[in-house]
Amino acid sequence: MARIEIEGGYPLTGTVAVSGAKNAVLPILMASLLTAEPCRLVGVPHLKDVTTTMELLGQMGVEISLGEGFDVGLQAAHLSTHTAPYDLVKTMRASILVLGPLLARAGEARVSLPGGCAIGARPVNLHLKGLSQMGAEITVEGGYIHAKASRLTGARVVMDGITVTGTENILMAATLAEGETVIENAAQEPEVVDLAECLIAMGAEISGHGSTRIVVKGKETLAGYDHTVIPDRIEAGTFLVGAAMTGGHIKVTNVRPDTLDAVIEKLREAGAHVVEGEDFIELDMAGKRPRAVNLATAPYPGFPTDMQAQFTALNAIAEGTAVVRETVFENRFMHILELQRLGADMQIEGNTVIIQGKSKLDAAPMMATDLRASACLVLAGLVAEGKTLIDRVYHIDRGYENIEEKLGQLGARIRRLPVS
Ligand code: EPU
Repeated sequence: MARIEIEGGYPLTGTVAVSGAKNAVLPILMASLLTAEPCRLVGVPHLKDVTTTMELLGQMGVEISLGEGFDVGLQAAHLSTHTAPYDLVKTMRASILVLGPLLARAGEARVSLPGGCAIGARPVNLHLKGLSQMGAEITVEGGYIHAKASRLTGARVVMDGITVTGTENILMAATLAEGETVIENAAQEPEVVDLAECLIAMGAEISGHGSTRIVVKGKETLAGYDHTVIPDRIEAGTFLVGAAMTGGHIKVTNVRPDTLDAVIEKLREAGAHVVEGEDFIELDMAGKRPRAVNLATAPYPGFPTDMQAQFTALNAIAEGTAVVRETVFENRFMHILELQRLGADMQIEGNTVIIQGKSKLDAAPMMATDLRASACLVLAGLVAEGKTLIDRVYHIDRGYENIEEKLGQLGARIRRLPVS
């Protein structure tokens, strides 16, 4: 298994471009199932989760062609199966996103239950409840969700909790349902909005996306799409935190600063000078050590859970004490135990971690446990004294495109070691 080696102590400086947003790309690729017509998605990052999604769609009969750079062509003229098998679903929970579009288009879907996960239980009960309110007959047997509906019917779906992929599944299903669907307590994440914009380009009638109430008027059929995906706000945020931790000065391009409000606010609180342009963010830490920042994760527009691990790394070397509360997932603190191995002073109390900032961390071997935890360990490696080795970096390849190249371009001493 590949490992990453980082020699700490070099501030991040320079310019880096952000890739397309993983969590927008995945549902939009799945949306190709809603139409027999050709679709084209531009700005698709080279990520493991993208490859897994294409493999899943390919197995279902979707014809996929890779363009010159970062564009992907898809056509689901005929579907050969309505099953998403365990061997693919287990490697990527977002596979659950086939459920809504497949059921709406084919009248039937068999999707393996995703199972447990390193960051929490992550059930899919709200996806299933919403689809059954729209008339789907759903059974769970032998580890598979089996959903059937000759045609879904519009319904008022009140989500008991805010769920991103749950909202996306119901939204996609509703575009081909008969009548009107209202999703109450919908997720407002920019990735949900991007999916809705793409569906609108396919001919869907959607309003209210970006608010907690989305209204969809179902259509008999949808057309194909030609869509450019939004930039990845979490990748952008990760680089910015890296610069703040190392006392650096960077410009992140191809970003949507308006999708990073909560993150930028915390970076300013940490002492960074941040300038927001139309499609760039410049952060200057002027060689200073960051100040500790308290935060609590929440659904958008709150502070993103996908940035929590990176900010715990920042707090590990910040001046002062920070309290970080995770409210979205119940077990998203695996990285804390790894950071402690570098000498970080952190105490977990329930869903809260109390961090006493240290003036330095010492390099040690660490192990990545999930995607964002891996990013946090890489950031810690940038400041730790000595050479940090991070194992199981396949987690990071699920969501960060060429991370070592991009960080290397910013002056980090980072390299991937060959499989030993
Ligand atoms: N939940 C339920 N029942 C459901 C669905 C969710 O109880 O049916 C709970 C979850 O257990 C969790 C909370 O609701 O406690 C929120 O989970 P959500 O469904 O919003 O998460 P998700 O849709 O599975 C997406 C992102 C995650 C991101 C979360 C929260 C994708 C593909 N994944 O997951 O991204 O952390 O929203 O913003 O969009 C990542 O990129 O590293 C990642 C984990």
